[in-house]
Amino acid sequence: MYEQEGFRGYLERLRSRNQLLDLHEPVDSRHIATLVDQSDKALMFHRVIGYDMPVVSGLIRSSERMAIGMGVERYADIEQVLTRALASPIEPKYVETSRARELTRVGDEVDLFDLPVPMSSVLDGGPVITAGVTIVRDGQGALNAGIYRYILKERNLTGIDIVTPNNLRALAWKAYEAQRPLPISISIGTHPFEFLASGYRAPAGVDEVAIAGGLRGAPVELAMCETIDVPHIADAEIVLEAEILPTGWKWPEGRFGEFTWLMGALHWNPLVRVKAIAHRKDPIYYNLHMPWEVAWLMIPTRWSQLRSALKAAGIQVKDINVTLGGIGAWHVVMSIKKSAGEGKNALLAALSVSDIKHAVVVDDDIDVFNPIDVEWAIATRVQGDRDVFVISGARVKPLDPSLPVMPAGVVPTGAKVGIDATIPENIPHERYERISYAYADKVKLGAYKLDAAAVRAGDRKPKADEIAQLADRIIGMIGNKPLYYAQVIDAFPDAPLQAITRAFGKLHAEEKLWQDKDGRMCVRGSSFAAKPPA
Ligand SMILES: Cc1cc2nc3c(=O)[nH]c(=O)nc-3n(C[C@H](O)[C@H](O)[C@H](O)COP(=O)(O)O)c2cc1C
Repeated sequence: MYEQEGFRGYLERLRSRNQLLDLHEPVDSRHIATLVDQSDKALMFHRVIGYDMPVVSGLIRSSERMAIGMGVERYADIEQVLTRALASPIEPKYVETSRARELTRVGDEVDLFDLPVPMSSVLDGGPVITAGVTIVRDGQGALNAGIYRYILKERNLTGIDIVTPNNLRALAWKAYEAQRPLPISISIGTHPFEFLASGYRAPAGVDEVAIAGGLRGAPVELAMCETIDVPHIADAEIVLEAEILPTGWKWPEGRFGEFTWLMGALHWNPLVRVKAIAHRKDPIYYNLHMPWEVAWLMIPTRWSQLRSALKAAGIQVKDINVTLGGIGAWHVVMSIKKSAGEGKNALLAALSVSDIKHAVVVDDDIDVFNPIDVEWAIATRVQGDRDVFVISGARVKPLDPSLPVMPAGVVPTGAKVGIDATIPENIPHERYERISYAYADKVKLGAYKLDAAAVRAGDRKPKADEIAQLADRIIGMIGNKPLYYAQVIDAFPDAPLQAITRAFGKLHAEEKLWQDKDGRMCVRGSSFAAKPPA
C-alpha cells in the first residue's frame, strides 16, 4: 500500500494520525534536542533561527510512529514485514532525475554549516549528523547501506564513527591499507523503509537497499551522484557526496550520545571529505534523536535474527521480546514450547545472535511482554547453579561500558549469560499447578446475585440425619474415585454448604477420611490412600 511513499508521504501520515506537531514559532537550534525530548509527538520546526530549512525530529521515537512508518497496525507486525523482505529482497531501480538533486553545490561551494544540525547533549564534541543513510560499493558489485554518525568539523570535513566492527569499517580499513579514499553517499531524510534496512546488520555482500525494496514491496529508486561513482536515495531531502579519507583511525571524534542511553567515550576515527552537497529546492533536515529513535529501529531487526537462529536450532518459539530496558539490543526474553533440554539449546542459539548479551527463556504459558510474569518464572523455575550459565570471552559490543578498560587497539571480549526459566525436567507436574479459584467461570462480581430460593436453601440449618446421609454418600463417591474437596461440594448443589462441611467433619471424626498423593479426598485404608513419611 505504501510502495511509492516517500519521506514526505510518511510525514503527512504522521500528521494525519496526530503524531507530528508543526511548530511555526522561531526556534533556536540549540533548544531542539531538549524540546524533542519533552514531546510525545514528532516535532517539525518550520522556522529555525539563522537557517533556511526546517528541522524535523523524533520521527520514530515511539513504537507507534515506527509502526506507522512500516505501514502496519501494531509494532509487533514489523517482524513479519521484515522477515518477508529478507526472504524476498527487491533490487533497486536507477533513475535519471533525483528530487534530492534539485540544487547541487560542488567543491568550494560546499558548506556544511548551512545545515541546521542541532546541538544535542551537553558533552557532545560538536553538531552531529545522525540520520545519514550511507551507501558504499563493497568492491564485489554489491551496495552496502548503513547509518553512521558524522560530526561536523569544517565547511567540507566531518568525522565518521566507525569504531564498531561492521561492513563499512572493514571496507574503510581495506581502502586505508591501499591508501585510497573510499567514496560514500550520505542520504539524509529518507523513508523508514530505507532507514530500517540500513540499520539491519546484513552479512557482507547482502545489499541492504534491496532489503529496503523488500520492505516497501517495490524497488528503491537510486540516482547516481555527480562527483563519485556511488548512488544515493533519489527521494532523500539532502545528499552529501563524500569520501572517507585514508587518514586511519587517528582523529579524535565525539563524544556523542549512544544507543546505550549513555555518552560514548572520545573515539578515534577517520575523516570524511564532502565533495558535493545536493538537496531539494525546499529541503527538510531530519535530525534523529538519540537514543530512542535507534531503539525502536533496532528491536525488529533483532527479532528477525533471533527468530531465524532459533528456527535453525529446531526450537518451537512462541514470542520474542527484545526489551527496551535492554536498550533494544542486548536483552531477549523468549517463550518456547519445550522438549527436554531445549531451554538450554534456545539460549545457546539466542546468544549467538548479534550482540545479545543476556537471554532468558520461559515456557509458552509465560507472557514475555509482562516483566512480572517473567520475573515470576525466574523466581519459581530457576536454580541458579543449574539454569544460569555464563560464557566468557565472547564477541561483544565494544561500546558496552561495563567491559574492562583495554589497551589501545585491543578489542575486548565479554560474557554472555543464559537464564533457563522453563519448568525443569523431571519435576512432578503438581509443583506447577497454578491457583485457580473455585467457580471462577460462573461467578462474576459485576453481575453477582443469588436467587431467593438459593439463599433460603443455603440458610437452612442442616439436621443430623441429613448430615449422616450426606456422609454416607460422600464415602460412596470417594470409595471408587478420589475427589478434590471442591468436586465433592459441587456434587451436592442442593445441600446447604454447612451440611457438607459437617458431613466431612463427621467422617474425619469417625477416622474414615484420608487423602491420595495429589491431595484428593479418599477412604482411609483404601488403595488410593497416600502413605505418611516413614
Ligand atoms: C541512528 C543510528 C545511528 C547509528 N550510528 C552508528 C555509528 O555511528 N557507527 C556505527 O558503527 N554504527 C552505527 N549504527 C549501526 C549501524 O548502522 C548498523 O550496525 C548497520 O547495520 C551497519 O551496517 P554495515 O555492517 O553494513 O556497515 C547506527 C544505527 C542507527 C540506527
